[in-house]
Amino acid sequence: MTPATDASPLMATYPPPPVTFVRGRGSYLWDDAGRRYLDMLSGLAVTSLGHAHPAVTEAVATQAATLVHVSNLFGTDVGPEVARTLDRLVGDGEPVGGQVFFCNSGAEANECAIKLARRFGGRGRHVVVSAYGGFHGRTLATLHATGQPDKHEVYQPLPEGFRHVPWHDVDALAAAMDPSVTAVLLEPVQGEGGVNPANAAYFAGVRRLCDERGALLMVDEVQTGLGRTGRWFGFQHFDVRPDVVTVAKALGNGVPIGACWARADVAGVFQPGDHATTFGGQPLATAAARAVLQVMQDEDVPARAARAGERFAAGLGALPGVVDVRGLGLLLGVELDGHDARQVAAALLDDGLVVNAVTASALRLAPSLLVSDDEVDRAVAMIAAALARASDRDAPGVAP
Ligand SMILES: Cc1ncc(COP(=O)(O)O)c(C=O)c1O
Repeated sequence: MTPATDASPLMATYPPPPVTFVRGRGSYLWDDAGRRYLDMLSGLAVTSLGHAHPAVTEAVATQAATLVHVSNLFGTDVGPEVARTLDRLVGDGEPVGGQVFFCNSGAEANECAIKLARRFGGRGRHVVVSAYGGFHGRTLATLHATGQPDKHEVYQPLPEGFRHVPWHDVDALAAAMDPSVTAVLLEPVQGEGGVNPANAAYFAGVRRLCDERGALLMVDEVQTGLGRTGRWFGFQHFDVRPDVVTVAKALGNGVPIGACWARADVAGVFQPGDHATTFGGQPLATAAARAVLQVMQDEDVPARAARAGERFAAGLGALPGVVDVRGLGLLLGVELDGHDARQVAAALLDDGLVVNAVTASALRLAPSLLVSDDEVDRAVAMIAAALARASDRDAPGVAP
């Protein structure tokens, strides 16, 4: 059968792309016509050091020429080093003595957490509770953990053992935590759900409930982790210690890698053969992660993100057409005053600014954590101009 010549060779899981990018550097991208764009999305919070960071490029090129992959049947030297660094960052500078399983994505990091929780709970204690509005991935189990029922319907039946509670409601969680519950899985800021931050009182309440009922507190830091919120991890804003932490996105600055960290006694329930991955922890991806974590520590990216985030939020919050700016550090949701966020995001792309509409009424900004003040100010000015045009267009009496 000959396909129609204009048919895409890719499955239609995303709408047709509006732009084709061919090159990036720092906070900038270039399309196939040579046009430059200011990137305030970082490939969905992934390129946290900007595009083509020289230290990461060098590390990947050197490792690619040395050893890319041998499988987990054999030892390699980079993965354990990255695991130790992650453990130290989970402890905010002090090693915690936890252990890491490397994988290739955020969903896989959460799959590992869910399996770990089931193994930890044992038979009859296997339920993972998560929050409505949360997002944890698109594999069948992580899709069920994702608290967005509209995404579940076409894939029913989903794996059992998941329960959802209203976000930011400790009483609802208490009511849901019967003896079948082995873990609670939450984001510190619901990213895909609209950039909705938690607060310290909620996380303290969740920690207390988990302690009382013998359940694990598992924090999904796939989008928030590694400096983005102004701390190494989002949970560090809330002064709680989780039992399991998952990361991915920023860890490889675009090279696919995920990781599930767990407290030593929790990690210790896995025996050889309980969980596995072909690619996870391979030298190429972990060499990228080693370089990323080194640059992040050298540049103190949490402090940079906190500072730049304040500047960004202040600039955006003062704009006509913006009713609220929420989030932490450089993960920001910009609630618009009645404008369609998808239309505004499309207009901004035409203007040369990359953002996305995280809900129908809010833009998401997740720039490089090395973003400059000038770049922040430019982005604010471009958003101001786009909102002013949208207001003129939507003003009463103006013909569509
Ligand atoms: C909080 C969170 N968890 C998990 C995932 C899934 O990660 P991946 O797309 O790498 O599987 C995402 C992706 O956006 C996420 O934001």
